Amino acid sequence: MLEDRLDTVRAWVREARHIAVLTGAGVSAESGVPTFRDAQTGYWAQFRAEDMATEAGFRSHPERVWNWYQHRRQLMDGVQPNAGHRALAQFQAAHPGRLTLITQNVDGLHQRVGSTGVLCLHGDLFADRWLDAPRDCCQLGEAVAGSPPTCRHCGNQVRPGVVWFGEMLPLAVFEAAERATQDCELMLVVGTAGAVYPAAGLAHLARSAGARVVVLNPNPSELDGTADAVLRGTSASLLPGLLAG
Ligand code: OAD
Repeated sequence: MLEDRLDTVRAWVREARHIAVLTGAGVSAESGVPTFRDAQTGYWAQFRAEDMATEAGFRSHPERVWNWYQHRRQLMDGVQPNAGHRALAQFQAAHPGRLTLITQNVDGLHQRVGSTGVLCLHGDLFADRWLDAPRDCCQLGEAVAGSPPTCRHCGNQVRPGVVWFGEMLPLAVFEAAERATQDCELMLVVGTAGAVYPAAGLAHLARSAGARVVVLNPNPSELDGTADAVLRGTSASLLPGLLAG
């Protein structure tokens, strides 16, 4: 019964000295941000990840890929954080130092609602960086507008500051996420299919380090088998009740 499991997990939340939360695209779904792998509406139902989320895809079609990220940036203008984002931020404010938020999301909604110390494993949708190692002439503020913008001197291209498939996660951020995972007594895995590593590996790490792992997802995920409890529901409906008090 969902209610019984909710009570159990509420008790685990109360008992845990340190909670790590790993979020994915599902946390922002109720704000209207598309996920990646949902069958009808996910981005990867419309596009190939190899085309839109790899360096090779950008190099072969820079305009197409740049414009897609611009479209995703613009989409965020009309988007508001939801009750799930708020519940996490409110718990952090009410219990300083007890909850570390690790996210695969690049949309900034956790930060917008006041979450602190968010460990962004996959970068920031709104950040720009140079495609090739920047030379002295490469100044982001002076890039020539275009799709993508370029360095006026050497032609280096600007790319979005997200982590693409085949790229390293930001090392300091990932190490901080590993430390939080090893230190936590409870990990909540919220709104992720659990299909992308090394992020998904944090749930296995938490389990092997002795923490309880709870998956919150309306659908089956690849991390269900790792979990001590699976709560079938949406993040905006489940998180406020779990983290209240
Ligand atoms: P996915 O799109 O793979 O998975 C989203 C998950 O959210 C699915 O398991 C859904 O069932 C679940 N979900 C949908 N609506 C939900 C809701 N309202 N509440 C809770 N869960 C809900 O997204 P991620 O797992 O985040 O990386 O994907 C991981 C990475 O793969 C992304 O960061 C991105 C993507 O390709 C890159 O682009 C490098």
